[in-house]
Amino acid sequence: MTLTLSVHPKLSLKKPTKANPLPHLVFFADSEGTLLGNVADDHAKRAEQLIAKSGFKGELGAAVSDHALDTDGVSITVMGAGKLDKLAGNIQKLGKATYKTLKNQRSAAICWGDVICQKHFSQFVLALLNANYRFDRHFSKKSDADALQTVQLINTKDSLADYEAALALTEATFKGQSFARDLANEAPNVLNPSTLAKEAKKLAKAYGDKLEVSVLGEKEMTKLGMGCFMSVSQGSDQEGKLIVIEYFGKTKKTKKAKLASPIALVGKGITFDTGGISLKPGAGMDEMKFDMGGAAAMLGATKAICEAGIEIDLVTVIAAAENMPSGKATRPGDIVTAMNGTSVEILNTDAEGRLVLCDALCYVQDNYQPRTIIDAATLTGACVIALGSVRSAVYSNDEDTLFALEAAGEYTNDLLWQMPLDDDYAAQLKSNFADLQNIGGREGGSITAACFLKHFIKEGQAWAHLDIAGTASLSGADKGATGRPVPMLVQFLKSQAV
Ligand code: BES
Ligand code: MN
Ligand code: ZN
Repeated sequence: MTLTLSVHPKLSLKKPTKANPLPHLVFFADSEGTLLGNVADDHAKRAEQLIAKSGFKGELGAAVSDHALDTDGVSITVMGAGKLDKLAGNIQKLGKATYKTLKNQRSAAICWGDVICQKHFSQFVLALLNANYRFDRHFSKKSDADALQTVQLINTKDSLADYEAALALTEATFKGQSFARDLANEAPNVLNPSTLAKEAKKLAKAYGDKLEVSVLGEKEMTKLGMGCFMSVSQGSDQEGKLIVIEYFGKTKKTKKAKLASPIALVGKGITFDTGGISLKPGAGMDEMKFDMGGAAAMLGATKAICEAGIEIDLVTVIAAAENMPSGKATRPGDIVTAMNGTSVEILNTDAEGRLVLCDALCYVQDNYQPRTIIDAATLTGACVIALGSVRSAVYSNDEDTLFALEAAGEYTNDLLWQMPLDDDYAAQLKSNFADLQNIGGREGGSITAACFLKHFIKEGQAWAHLDIAGTASLSGADKGATGRPVPMLVQFLKSQAV
């Protein structure tokens, strides 16, 4: 069920009809019980009375409702926004809680008044939309959809046009994020490198005037000398694919047109990671279907950019393979050669993400002159230990790229944390038998993985690597794909359109 959202400078209640019932009004109160936003409306007075009479404390996410239908038929809810000085970090929690409170109403009007700026408005709306996300395609009986269909957003701090633009970008972001979540949540017997490539082709159909999608198979990749990619893919019966999507947002797309110094997005697309011959333990292995979370995020961001019509040139490269043990699989000790001639001794076949990525990084540098390259990968368990599921790790050799990514992370609350790339860490990748080995030991596991990738970045090429192993999916009762870091990426790409 899609929600229809609209922004308004003030509340106007039309005579209710069956098709258009009166909206349920939502106000916000802080932990002092003070109504937020100077909402100039009679109903705000009722909200204040409701707070006073109920002794509502305004705890974050709590709600008190008044269905006093004897007055004018309008029912209202006051949502607790918690402590005001903590609100900036709690907007998404509040968005989710607001959705939960409203889901059984057909129509709602959310009255923020003059307290919410565009940044927090965007975070709030995206959280509200994400709370409405379901992945239920494999259930034989679908549960009933929530009642909520239309939401009016009443805001007065910035101009209406600003909120309208923020809403449009947020809705585009949500489409991309949902796409990423759908791809990553899909079962690994359904989503393999070939079906992932089909999804990319579908994007080309939907946004054909600006997109060009091409897919390389294993024959072509072998010919190009992508020995590292092939060493991962060769153990699987599923053919590996390199998916290349060109988005012409600035350069006009014609038959012969070439992208002009595009931003490059590169995603790890391991559709299932068993570990290969270095087999993973069984417990929780199902979650390795999320090992294409980097690919999903890059495809999601690309879709969002198409939806929003952002004026940049972009090339998205997805390294899609399945990591399986078999008679054809790579052995620990095997030595292979990447597209740029680097020889790699594979000491652990479970460190496969860096192997598919290094060839994708070579490919994108050989075929484009990227302004900057961003790669995203569920690369290491060590990153999960270091940063948990709150922040994604970012590594970069370029200050401009790094700052823009961090700023986008702050703007969307899809947060990053910078990690180091010192050469002294790279020393852990020294092999006795080849130019590099594919693991650097237990110490600094996320860092040495990033150093491995850096080895394939040409001198002077701006680049950032995102290790999203902890943030792309959740475990336990909330098991599922988050669609992170699509919000950060969309904001970053928008910031690059100048
Ligand atoms: N896909 C995993 C990393 C991962 C672990 C993602 C947990 C999400 C949650 C990656 O391919 C992997 O297996 N990495 C190994 C590297 C090691 C062998 C150097 C790891 O982190 O254990
Ligand atoms: Mn692995
Ligand atoms: Zn993996």
